[in-house]
Amino acid sequence: MSKIIICGGNKLQGKVQVSGAKNSSLAILAASLLSETESIIENVPNLMDVRTMLDVLISLGCKVEQEGNSVKIIPSLNNYKAPYELVKKMRASFYVAGPLLGRLKIAEVPLPGGCIIGSRPVNFHLDGFRKMGAQVSQEHGFMKARAEKLHGAYIFLDPRYCSVGTTVNLMMLATVAEGTTIIENAAREPEVVDLANYLIKMGAEIKGAGTSTVQIGGGGKLNGCEHRVIADRIEAATFMIAGAITGGEVTVEGVPIGYIEAVSSKLQETGCEIRKDINRLKVIAPERVSSVDLITAPFPGFPTDVQPAFVSLMSIAEGTSIVEETIYDGRFKYVDELRRMGANIRVNENVALIKGVKKLSGAPVEATDLRAGAALILSGLAAEGETEIYEIELIYRGYENIEGKLLSLGANIRRE
Ligand code: EPU
Repeated sequence: MSKIIICGGNKLQGKVQVSGAKNSSLAILAASLLSETESIIENVPNLMDVRTMLDVLISLGCKVEQEGNSVKIIPSLNNYKAPYELVKKMRASFYVAGPLLGRLKIAEVPLPGGCIIGSRPVNFHLDGFRKMGAQVSQEHGFMKARAEKLHGAYIFLDPRYCSVGTTVNLMMLATVAEGTTIIENAAREPEVVDLANYLIKMGAEIKGAGTSTVQIGGGGKLNGCEHRVIADRIEAATFMIAGAITGGEVTVEGVPIGYIEAVSSKLQETGCEIRKDINRLKVIAPERVSSVDLITAPFPGFPTDVQPAFVSLMSIAEGTSIVEETIYDGRFKYVDELRRMGANIRVNENVALIKGVKKLSGAPVEATDLRAGAALILSGLAAEGETEIYEIELIYRGYENIEGKLLSLGANIRRE
């Protein structure tokens, strides 16, 4: 069983290049199914989740060529049923549902199951497919959808969530449905905008991506194209917090500062100095950060995917902070592992009360999910002594070469 071992205490210093965004890549790779001709996608991070999506595409008949961070997809579909063994590994595999239904007018995709961070149904996706003319049923754990004809629709998403996945799936389907689709309360995440830009290059008509109202004109034929994936804002934020938690100075490069504004302004409140350029941001941390409160929210709010890393930071801050999770109903399970390192955290439903301690102490801990794993790495970097992190495969789902990048910033980290 492999593990990551960290000897904490080094102040991180230097620059780190941010990889391509996992969540953009997953949506764009699925969207490549909408055309009959090949697409070349650049800046795709080398991650387990990307591998899973490529395996799903291959299982549907596509040919895939991967070289470094470049992926060529030849979307020769010969199957409308995605295999359970692959879809169960990764929820985002459900992104193939919209494109399959759009191109073949039939799709069978396993329903994603439970998830360690909370219940994550796909009812909004299914409601949207139905509004666009599909008959959708749930049989033997699969979503089965078929349509004679797909048409545009007015779709009002639940404003409490502004669901990313629903916006992605419906935007893809709408590009091939006849007529105009309007999605209200659409997700405004940069990854949604990146997907829209790829679809526009393919020939789709999309207006308003990045705002709450997206209008998609459908019915045209889409062609494959070349596209470069945007930078991963969650990875960038993780390295910014790595600088803050070790009292160091870390510059993240290649990420537009607008993607990480919510995180950088929170770090500023904790006492970090932030220096910004267009595509780079430097965090200069004080000896010890101060506590601040935090509420997660859809973009441009503070991302839920950075919440565990921020809780790690608050666990060694001066004072007490309150962190409220509003996106998922079970995203504090990792807190038990932080407590084993000496953190003083009380959780009441979706709110954590964190009393900062002077020092964490290294301990064997287990990643419970991808972002929790990253939070444990951050805690290990700040802790006294050695931290061993188990279940690290979860971390490699979403972070490209994380030990290499941390090593280059001066961390004492290795994989065994
Ligand atoms: N929701 C429903 N019904 C639905 C869809 C969503 O109730 O049909 C609820 C979910 O249960 C959740 C909330 O709405 O409570 C928000 O879910 P959303 O659909 O926005 O999330 P997602 O599309 O499943 C993406 C990212 C997640 C990220 C969230 C929120 C991808 C592949 N995944 O998930 O990323 O946490 O948006 O920003 O883009 C990660 O990268 O580690 C990760 C979990």
